[in-house]
Amino acid sequence: MPTLDLPAPDPARLAEAREAIAAARRVVVLTGAGMSAESGIATFRDALTGLWSRFNPEELASVEGFCAAPERVWDWYAERREGVRRAQPNAGHEALAAWARAHPGCMCVVTQNVDDLHQRAGQPDVVRLHGDILAVQWLDESACRKRPRCDPAQAAEASPGRPPRCAHCGNLARPGVVWFGEALPTDALDRAQRLADECEVMLVVGTSGAVWPAAGLAGRARRGGARVVIVNPDESEIDGQAHLVLRGTAARVLPRLLGAAVGV
Ligand code: OAD
Repeated sequence: MPTLDLPAPDPARLAEAREAIAAARRVVVLTGAGMSAESGIATFRDALTGLWSRFNPEELASVEGFCAAPERVWDWYAERREGVRRAQPNAGHEALAAWARAHPGCMCVVTQNVDDLHQRAGQPDVVRLHGDILAVQWLDESACRKRPRCDPAQAAEASPGRPPRCAHCGNLARPGVVWFGEALPTDALDRAQRLADECEVMLVVGTSGAVWPAAGLAGRARRGGARVVIVNPDESEIDGQAHLVLRGTAARVLPRLLGAAVGV
């Protein structure tokens, strides 16, 4: 995890970002794994603690990896699911949700995160680009010929297997997340792109900007005329798209940025 004892972000930049947000009617918040880091959920690419510094994404986050070792992949996600269930929203999630509730209809969160911490903080409008780790789906969505179709969540509860297998068609259940090489859910991506085109401020929190198409949303918002503000303790690949970069962590910066108090 990056250093948490960074100084508070530059007050002038913070004030400028606060003004831009206060003047906006449409704010989009693009979040990545850093958003949940202070809730104890590991990021992917941080040098020492990131999941992809310890595990191979080709083995654990691709259809090929799952087919090669379904039990191993299922168990890895089961452990991560437990971590998500134990985690609590942090002050950053709470600050976003409080601002959204105080400004109905003005904020949408577009998240790459597969946890449910924005939802548990009470965030009213969340677009999930990379799926939901607590959900399950069939490996082969078209394999089941039974009508109504077998429900993978029910099968996962009923079947002792790892991963569970459909009693009717033999289909394997898999985690409900987007893996490398897979398309993002069309509805979610379309909406995220529309929101990016139309927003007046895009706040980008805790993403390395390494994974597309999510990483392209900041540039898209900027081209559409939005102010782009990044919150991240470290450099990201999309810093060049930002009008303002606030160096700090989500749980420390967002309450200062979105809270009622001025001059913090
Ligand atoms: P990464 O792990 O690539 O990047 C995490 C970012 O969060 C880095 O830029 C860190 O500097 C920053 N960060 C760390 N701690 C933070 C904190 N407390 N507050 C704010 N920022 C912090 O994660 P993502 O950009 O989300 O894909 O990765 C994108 C996708 O790659 C993920 O959605 C995942 C992964 O493979 C899927 O699950 C499909």
